[in-house]
Formats: sequence, structure tokens, C-alpha cells
Amino acid sequence: MIHGKARNVIITGTGHAVPTRVLSNFDLEKMVDTSDEWIRTRTGILRRRVADEHTATSDLAAQAGRLALKDAGVSPEELDLIIVATITPDMLFPSTSCLVQKNLEAWGAACYDLSAGCSGLIYGLDMAVHSIASGAYQRALVIGADCISKVLNFQDRSTCVLFGDGAGACLLEAADQAGVLASRLGADGRGWDKLLLRGGGSRHPASPATLAAGWHYIEMCGNDVFKFAVRIMVEASLQVLADAGLQPEDIDLFIPHQANIRIIESAAQRLNLTEDQVYVNLDEYGNTSAASIGIALDEAVRSGRIKGGDRVLLVGFGAGLTWGAMIIEWVEKA
Ligand code: COA
Repeated sequence: MIHGKARNVIITGTGHAVPTRVLSNFDLEKMVDTSDEWIRTRTGILRRRVADEHTATSDLAAQAGRLALKDAGVSPEELDLIIVATITPDMLFPSTSCLVQKNLEAWGAACYDLSAGCSGLIYGLDMAVHSIASGAYQRALVIGADCISKVLNFQDRSTCVLFGDGAGACLLEAADQAGVLASRLGADGRGWDKLLLRGGGSRHPASPATLAAGWHYIEMCGNDVFKFAVRIMVEASLQVLADAGLQPEDIDLFIPHQANIRIIESAAQRLNLTEDQVYVNLDEYGNTSAASIGIALDEAVRSGRIKGGDRVLLVGFGAGLTWGAMIIEWVEKA
């Protein structure tokens, strides 16, 4: 049972959704001065999925959410909380979670969005765990969803090759069994300018000038984020392992945020994790931001890579700067 938690919380359903359109490294070679070889060796990414002009974040989020509900055998009316973690909401307001609620017809749910970059899913899970553990809520749907392609400058090779679109969802409920063993969140706002979308908010409202400056696109200090990521993945993992009284060898599956294979390998090596303890799918999807850990978790569960009793370590980092880590003892569905 985690600190301050009155009852246990388990994930009873998972789901994910990605757009059908595939954008390969070879496609990008035709759009910008890059190469498959550079992208593959520097990031591990081979291809990513990209939403079409009719698809927004709430569409993918609702699709993933519906699958998680189905997986759990829970109907939308039974939900009392929907949290969508995203940095690419359909619009500044209303929240994307309200649009998801409308799509799912989950009229009994309170809804809010959460902005924690690529740590978003873990932030959302942590919030839902505490909300359920306190007794205030019974069933929460947490969705990490982003259409980063919509805010990418496809002439900027330093960012456009890294990201893809998608959504990953988890249904959480109270339970007697172990479930979430430990969870940690953190942030360092001093790194606010390492990864950002400058325009369109109250600091720099959208205008012809912000458009001309390209402030509707992602900006990133790649090297600084890389160094931060390698350090924080290890620190956050060690903290949450200590909270749960576990060692790295007790972890059956490590699901890191899927940003760059070199970041993942470096963290895994420092944590003394073997290759078969680490889940990687960034070759297929690139960095799907708040969706990445949810997509990986759903794939791992559905493919049988995670079984009842397994201990799963989730760890993420992202814009803010933010980070989060969580250990779950997986409970097989009855
Ligand atoms: N294709 C070809 N060359 C590229 C390129 C691309 N897509 N992007 C950058 N380059 C070039 C650079 O211009 C630079 O050239 P130069 O030496 O002539 O100046 C060279 O490749 C090396 O650039 P550098 O930035 O040092 O590469 P890197 O090995 O650090 O990798 C990232 C860059 C972005 C892949 C890496 O820093 C990274 O993954 N950072 C973390 C990003 C991240 O995870 N963000 C999301 C966080 S949630």
C-alpha cells in the first residue's frame, strides 16, 4: 500500500489507439535534410503514426478509453472520473477530457486535463490512485494522448523525426489485492524552456507575429533534455524502488517513456536491468508523448508479456520539466 493510501488500487483494463497513417524515416528523408541511418542510430525510431486532418487528440483518446473500458468490463456510466494527460488538447478549452466524456457518454464522470508532457500518464495514474484510495472516487479512466505531429515543424529536422501520435488508457478501480505499490512525481520548473510550445497562450497570444516566428511549433534543447532524461530516469526509478522495498532484479518489466533508445539503454544499464526486463516499441511509434507508456503497457499486457503477480516499473520524463515513476504488482483479471 503506498504512502497515505487507505485502500488498494489496481488497473483493471488497458487500451490504446494510434492513427493508421505510417510515416517512415524514408518518408521523412523526402521532406527534410535527414536520413534513415541518422534517425535509426541516434534515436532507434524506424517509423511513427501520424493523424490525418480530421483526427484530433480527443478522437484517439476516446478510442483508447473505450478499449480500456471494454477490457475491464466496465460501462461508461460507471465512471466517476476521467483524466486526460495531454499537451496537444483539441483546443485550449474546454478540456479534452470533457470531449472524451461526450464521446463515451460517460455522463457521471468528473473530467479534467493534466499537462505534464511525456510524464502525463504517470501523473494521471498517480492522481487517480490517490482519488480512489481516499474513497472519493470508485472508477477512474486515465488517458495519455497526444497528436504531437500537429505542432511539429516538418522543416525542423531536430524535432520532426522524433515524435508520433497516439493514445494509451488505463481503467483504475479499488481492490483488495496489491496493485499500485509505490508512486513518485517530481518537477523542476527551472527547465521550463527546454521543451515548449511558446505561442497561443496568455503570454504570447496567437497573432500574425507569433505565426511568423513559428511559435506554434515545438521548440526543444535536445542535448539538455537528453542529459536530464538519463539522470532522472535512474533517480526516479531508484526512489520508487526504495519506497516499495524492492531491488531492480525484483522488476519483471521496466516500461520507460519511449523517447530515444540511447536514453532507455543508458538508464537500463545504470539500473543493472537485463534486455528482457525492458519494454521497447519506439521503433514503431516514435515518441508519442503522454501516450507512450500507456501504449507500451497495453501492448505488454495483451501480448502476455505481463502476467498476474509481475512487478512492473513505469518511468517517464517530459516538458515542465517533469518526471514520474510507479511500481505496479499486476493483478490478473478474475
Ligand atoms: N538528421 C540528420 N542530422 C541531424 C538531425 C536529423 N534529423 N537532427 C540533428 N542533426 C544533426 C545536428 O544538426 C548536428 O549536426 P552538426 O554536428 O553539424 O551541428 C548533429 O546531427 C548532431 O546533433 P546532436 O543534437 O548533437 O545529436 P544527438 O546525438 O544529441 O541527438 C537528439 C539529438 C534530439 C536525438 C537527442 O539529443 C535526444 O534524443 N534528446 C532528447 C530528446 C527528447 O527525448 N525529447 C522529448 C522528451 S519527452
